[in-house]
Amino acid sequence: MSHSEANRVRIFDTTLRDGEQSPGASMTLEEKLQIARVLEAMRVDVIEAGFAIASNGDFECVNRIATEIKDSTVCSLARAALGDIDRAGEAIKPANSGRIHTFIATSPLHMKVKLQMEPEAVIEAIHGSVSRACTFTDDVEWSAEDATRTEIDFLCRAVETAIKAGATTINLPDTVGYATPQEYMDMFKAVIERVPNSDKAIFSTHCHNDLGLAVANSLAGVAGGARQVECTINGIGERAGNAAMEEIVMALKTRGDVMPYHTRIKSEEIMRASKLVSTVTGFTVQNNKAIVGANAFAHESGIHQDGVLKAAETYEIMTPESVGVTKSVLTMGKHSGRHAFADKLKDLGYELGDNAFQECFRRFKELGDRKKNIYDEDIVALVDDEVATW
Ligand code: KIV
Ligand code: ZN
Repeated sequence: MSHSEANRVRIFDTTLRDGEQSPGASMTLEEKLQIARVLEAMRVDVIEAGFAIASNGDFECVNRIATEIKDSTVCSLARAALGDIDRAGEAIKPANSGRIHTFIATSPLHMKVKLQMEPEAVIEAIHGSVSRACTFTDDVEWSAEDATRTEIDFLCRAVETAIKAGATTINLPDTVGYATPQEYMDMFKAVIERVPNSDKAIFSTHCHNDLGLAVANSLAGVAGGARQVECTINGIGERAGNAAMEEIVMALKTRGDVMPYHTRIKSEEIMRASKLVSTVTGFTVQNNKAIVGANAFAHESGIHQDGVLKAAETYEIMTPESVGVTKSVLTMGKHSGRHAFADKLKDLGYELGDNAFQECFRRFKELGDRKKNIYDEDIVALVDDEVATW
């Protein structure tokens, strides 16, 4: 895998902004600060701390995070309105490295129905908003909201305008989670190829998960030339959520053989971040969630348990330690085999003779047919009872 700067993918975390837009996920200042510290420790490149104009509380969150966080760029969102941009500029003032992220919709539907603006007026607004943002910081990101439903000629014009006005990051969001990976990759390729000054900016993905394609689309965007990925911890976000950071980071880390890109994320911090975001928001992580679900490193079937006991790589494509999980779990249940049962007995401190072992294993299987989860205490009780009858 090449570790050149050209292949580095910046991680832009929007847990505190788009993530917080999940219904029911609002966070207090203290909670946001706690998450921001963990994101900084993970070496996230950009933390989108909030939407400064949204409320005084949001302004304060962005401002406090900008004051405290020193190793990640701190960003505030702003619409293409001067008041929004000035408020964002004020909020990020204390940052070591501060960014303003301004956006406007570019799809025909959004321009006509939502903005009620003519395309020419949108182009003017892009120029005006990016230029204004540049008066506060030289790190300005511009997003074409609903980019994936925007006509390509207009999208190229809009991007060219934003770069000319001084934007250094161009984000092409799949706002409604509508694109397929092929389409999303092709859009980046087309825009990067057609916009004359595209090399002046870093292109960014921002994918929503309405069709369950947010991570696949983000990776396709990278293959199409994007070098920043916008994502959230546990994939929280509007509606079905945003692309999950842990999945993107581990996909790039695990499959560098076919995707020669890298991030600078300290993946060992992933589990800590996931648990914190889940506790703060009250959103539980589903058991089978990739990377951070309770079952992501758990094996139940006898065949798999036997394989993992012989060599973890038989059924694990990454180590649990690489994402901050202490070790894999061999869950005990009716699917478990002799090998895993023997291993569990050893862990629990038992050494049984052959006959006692066979009898205990038989009773364990019987128990498994009756009981969904078999805990260590169940096994201890079963073995103690068996041993007492010998
Ligand atoms: O989904 C989206 O388009 C957004 C923009 C504000 C970047 O969140
Ligand atoms: Zn979004």
